[in-house]
Amino acid sequence: MSEGNDYHAAPAAMVKAPSGCPVNHEWSPLNDDYLADPYPIAYQLREDAPIFFAEELGYVVVNRMEDIVEVFTNPDVYASTIVQNPVFPIGDRAAEVLAAPDFNPVAVMSNRPEPDHGRIRKYTRAGFSRRRLKTLEPYIVRRANELIDDMLAGDKPREFIEAFAFPLPGETVFRFIGFPESDDELLKNWCSDRKAFSWGRPTEDEQVEIAEKMLAYWRYCREFTATKRDNRADDFASELVADHEADPDDISYREVESVIYGLSFAGHEAVTALICNALLCLLPRRDQWQQLVDDPSLIPNAVEEVVRFESSQVSWRRITTQGTTLAGVDIPANTPIFMNFASANRQPDLFENPTTFDIHRSNAAHNISFGKGIHFCLGANLAKLEVKLVLEALTQRVPSLRLVEGQPIWSSPNITFRGPEQLLVTWD
Ligand code: HEM
Repeated sequence: MSEGNDYHAAPAAMVKAPSGCPVNHEWSPLNDDYLADPYPIAYQLREDAPIFFAEELGYVVVNRMEDIVEVFTNPDVYASTIVQNPVFPIGDRAAEVLAAPDFNPVAVMSNRPEPDHGRIRKYTRAGFSRRRLKTLEPYIVRRANELIDDMLAGDKPREFIEAFAFPLPGETVFRFIGFPESDDELLKNWCSDRKAFSWGRPTEDEQVEIAEKMLAYWRYCREFTATKRDNRADDFASELVADHEADPDDISYREVESVIYGLSFAGHEAVTALICNALLCLLPRRDQWQQLVDDPSLIPNAVEEVVRFESSQVSWRRITTQGTTLAGVDIPANTPIFMNFASANRQPDLFENPTTFDIHRSNAAHNISFGKGIHFCLGANLAKLEVKLVLEALTQRVPSLRLVEGQPIWSSPNITFRGPEQLLVTWD
């Protein structure tokens, strides 16, 4: 069993365009027009070249679904080791915070190569089973209704992320792991803004603040894991600690701590954004919202269509381990790859009228938003369950819910995670 690489290593080294690869000198996923609406630009990028080198980013960008699938399903050639690394260099002050001798999580899932990834992932399967999701369902329904009660009792309009979309997924993943409810406020504070650290462009002060929260949260995870040795419950952390004790040579204690550390991020901000994106898709299209109010059995497919049409994750990364050829272009080893989900999820030869949001679309689930292959998102069913239960609760309890007209909708600068920073809603 190998020790594993650092959880948040330095950014991939800047590389030059592979010879023969088209070069785009202007485009970056952080350009204002792309952040405002990536889809028409992503469409044009794919029309211009299925794959190109983005000079601003220093990555080879892959636009077509078939090429993204090739990348995802060949992990020996396209390694996932960089996926948690910051895209841009981290300043000295934040690096100093993370240099604390006890900040030592190791790569365990998304950023761990084979064969260790498969060794560790097998221990997480039971945790994400249908049985565990079933036990979580009553909790999600109860909290969704409590948050709606609080929202309806307060003033209108209401900022929906603070009132609902941020707390619910955080609390859900904390219950899944087994953290006590009494620690929720502390945990929600530590786990906010994490997406900015690796995939955004935070200021130096913001980097330091996030790094301090990551360190505090890691220390909490370690203390919490230690308590699980003597206090087992029906939760994911207890299962992992029991697995370690049953075979300490196959899953190390540090790996158990690191899986727990990683899950709170994986399961939080992307779900917050997906809930908001669902409202952005549905509330202005009143006829489709009303269909869900009248017939909640339409909600599961509506969720699939939200995941295709307006995912909270519009890209993911890999790095080549050897020279290879993709879409007819030769790419050398150590080239960072940016997979453009925003392009592939609206590819016209795969999705009819791809720019139309349609809750009845029969192949909506053929999107790429949760990845593919050995690293396919472990939490995809949990994320979709949460959005389904949220839409069931909102359509039944607040059928008149609507967006406040004229509000600016903007996503923070982020190369991967997409969702509004603020969402004002009102109701009758
Ligand atoms: C809207 C919400 C979510 C989106 C869009 C999303 C997306 C993704 C993507 C694209 C990957 C990488 C796939 C690959 O490299 O092939 C991934 C991996 C992963 N996701 Fe999610 N995810 C979401 C929610 C969750 C939740 C709720 C959890 C857990 C509570 C979770 C846990 C994970 C884990 C552990 C991995 C790494 C799996 C591995 O490497 O074996 N995700 N996710």
